[in-house]
Amino acid sequence: MPGQKLIEAFGAGPVSVVRAPGRVNLIGDHTDYNGGYVLPAAVDREVRIAFRPSGDARVEMLSADFDERAAFDLGGIARDQAQGWAKYPMGVAGALQAEKYPVAGMRAVLRGNVPIGAGLSSSAAIEVACALAFCSVSGLKIRREKLARICQRAENEFVGMQCGIMDQYACLLGRKDCALFLDCTTLETELVPLDERGAKIVICDTRLKRQLVNSAYNRRREECEEAFMVLKRHFPQVKSYKDISIPMFHAYAHDLPDPLGKRAQHVVTENARVVQAARLLKKVDLIGFGALMDASHDSLRNDFEVSCRELDLLVGIARESEGVFGGRMTGAGFGGCAVALVRPDCVAAFTAKTSEGYKAETGTAPGIYVVRASEGATFENEEQPTDRSDRSDQSDRTD
Ligand code: GLA
Repeated sequence: MPGQKLIEAFGAGPVSVVRAPGRVNLIGDHTDYNGGYVLPAAVDREVRIAFRPSGDARVEMLSADFDERAAFDLGGIARDQAQGWAKYPMGVAGALQAEKYPVAGMRAVLRGNVPIGAGLSSSAAIEVACALAFCSVSGLKIRREKLARICQRAENEFVGMQCGIMDQYACLLGRKDCALFLDCTTLETELVPLDERGAKIVICDTRLKRQLVNSAYNRRREECEEAFMVLKRHFPQVKSYKDISIPMFHAYAHDLPDPLGKRAQHVVTENARVVQAARLLKKVDLIGFGALMDASHDSLRNDFEVSCRELDLLVGIARESEGVFGGRMTGAGFGGCAVALVRPDCVAAFTAKTSEGYKAETGTAPGIYVVRASEGATFENEEQPTDRSDRSDQSDRTD
């Protein structure tokens, strides 16, 4: 329990706890920073932070997992000071300050079970948990949508990953047994029920720590922007990739040199798949949904070139297993995890087959996590999370 650890590490006193989940993206990768569509779900793997206000302008934290302490003064947060996991609380405090929010100090202990560096957004989970803890100790009321953008800013400016908004949105706005359809241009969301009696979400971890992901990711982002500028010359009215249909793309694909053409092809087709996938999920057409997951993986492998041998292997084995609706890599790629939707009665056989098959080829046992679509970040022992009370828009939650 991080609460007990807080007392051990920082002495007796009040304890508040916040939890923030990781996420799995069911379909729609490398579309968020292109203003496109995504369909992630928050999962029941989470980061928990036990915290209390310190009454000073200092943040002292202990990572119970790494048994490592970090401390910094809120008066002088500098980007280059940030190291390891501490760059997340620092980045979030810095991003809140950059948005002109006064941030108060705290003592905190964090602990998590989101696999790190596996493409399940352990970083968004830490950012969001820290952000909510800071909001609580600083008496800040910030709408969840805004908080997601602040966490994204922390990642962009302090961690140096030019990520989109998907992970932070899923972590803050995900709901139990639902996927979150998000339009990354308008930031409109729609919850799509995902009944685990029909299919279980099974995550297969290559256990390959992602290498050079920031630079490769940022490069893909630049390529997408370059390709978009070329296409926009032909269609000045389009604002983002989601306004470019597949026929529009094909009409001018020849203008795009390699690899720009492939990158744009992925983004344009992936957007169409996400829209269709959300439609099918609403109709509980899991077979149709799974086929789109398969197509998404092929596009990420062939056109976007962010898969790798281990991910392809896992997805290949998964697709041959009985009761699998579909499977694909999930998240940024370059290692990390694949996700499959599996008929509940087939999960045990699926797990055995995937583990054996992957180990036989690579010598490493994959991680297999059967997860459930879960509630976005919540406080555990406060009556009302500070940030849910001031939402004035129509999308306000009623709980
Ligand atoms: C990472 C980023 C997200 C998104 C995915 C790819 O998880 O943090 O914003 O771009 O990669 O879909």
